[in-house]
Amino acid sequence: MEQEKSSNGAKKIILSGIQPTGTFTLGNYLGAVRNWQKMQEAYACYYFIADLHSLTVHIEPAKRRAQTREAFALLLACGIDTERSLVFVQSHNRCHAEMGWIMDCCSPFGELSRMTQFKDKAEKHPDNINAGLFTYPALMAGDILLYQADYVPVGEDQTQHLEFTRDVATRFNHTYGETFKLPEGYFPKAGARVMSLQDPTSKMSKSDENPKATISILDEEKAILKKFKSAVTDSEACVCFRADKPGVSNLMTIYSAVTGKTMETIETEFAGKGYGDFKAAVGEAVADELRPIRENYARLMDDRAYLEAEMKKGAERAECIARRTLAKVKKRVGLLLD
Ligand code: TYM
Repeated sequence: MEQEKSSNGAKKIILSGIQPTGTFTLGNYLGAVRNWQKMQEAYACYYFIADLHSLTVHIEPAKRRAQTREAFALLLACGIDTERSLVFVQSHNRCHAEMGWIMDCCSPFGELSRMTQFKDKAEKHPDNINAGLFTYPALMAGDILLYQADYVPVGEDQTQHLEFTRDVATRFNHTYGETFKLPEGYFPKAGARVMSLQDPTSKMSKSDENPKATISILDEEKAILKKFKSAVTDSEACVCFRADKPGVSNLMTIYSAVTGKTMETIETEFAGKGYGDFKAAVGEAVADELRPIRENYARLMDDRAYLEAEMKKGAERAECIARRTLAKVKKRVGLLLD
């Protein structure tokens, strides 16, 4: 990845987060985390576990704690290197909660009401439609703006939240004077939207109740092959990328993201072959890609003291960076500085 510099000669800033709501899926990996790993050389990268965002859904406290530690280890297992990138847990840097409230007060109700993720999640959890779920994009805007990020590498499902962030930042700059850089989304060419293996019209999600629908990045090879074998396709038996073939097209997207092959190359490779051969090839390519992550993860989870020391180091550095923007923001809105 080519290096890009800001006008002052410093590396451009990348920021992104992931919720600790379960083991990362192949969607999280291809849509986001794999890119995070690739960007470490060319950019100043800040990555965090969005545990405050995860509070918008109910998870047993002990499970949340365990999942937060696991998510941190997973990032490192995916090749995020704490010597090169800043990795931290969101709630360990208090600036996020403080900034989140200020962003809440800059977020019009009407705009928040239009967020599709809110509508989807409210539908999925009708017994827990909390205020945090509604103001989620304001907290996310605060996460990004605190670090003056240039790019935010995410999957396509976060596009609306990024636009919201830019709107909040533009409005704030207009009202209080230039304060925030306007961040841009950064989406992978293939893999920005990985769909469920059982319902290719909905995105692959950590919270899917059907385990066959989702590849977890810690799945064993046998499980991966089996899930791809039972992936929903169609009766045409033709490996081609078309809107009316969402199942096959999703598998092609995954295969393309993992191998770097174009859709045309894939179509030629499997011309005249059945879905069985194709599904086996996708499964094997994914299993090969995920094997080292599983091995790294097992090693990291054995060393809890190391993980805790890295979390502490990350939190201190993150707070040091974020505090600067937060102080500026507080001054701008007229809070007396302490
Ligand atoms: P989360 O935890 O839902 O997902 C983490 C990342 O994975 C991407 N992703 C996908 N990409 C392709 N196909 C899929 N099926 C798929 N599912 C998930 C997401 O787009 C995301 O990039 N709101 C964020 C967390 C967050 C954040 C932030 C991100 C909080 N603050 C600030 C960036 C900047 C979220 O829920 O991610």
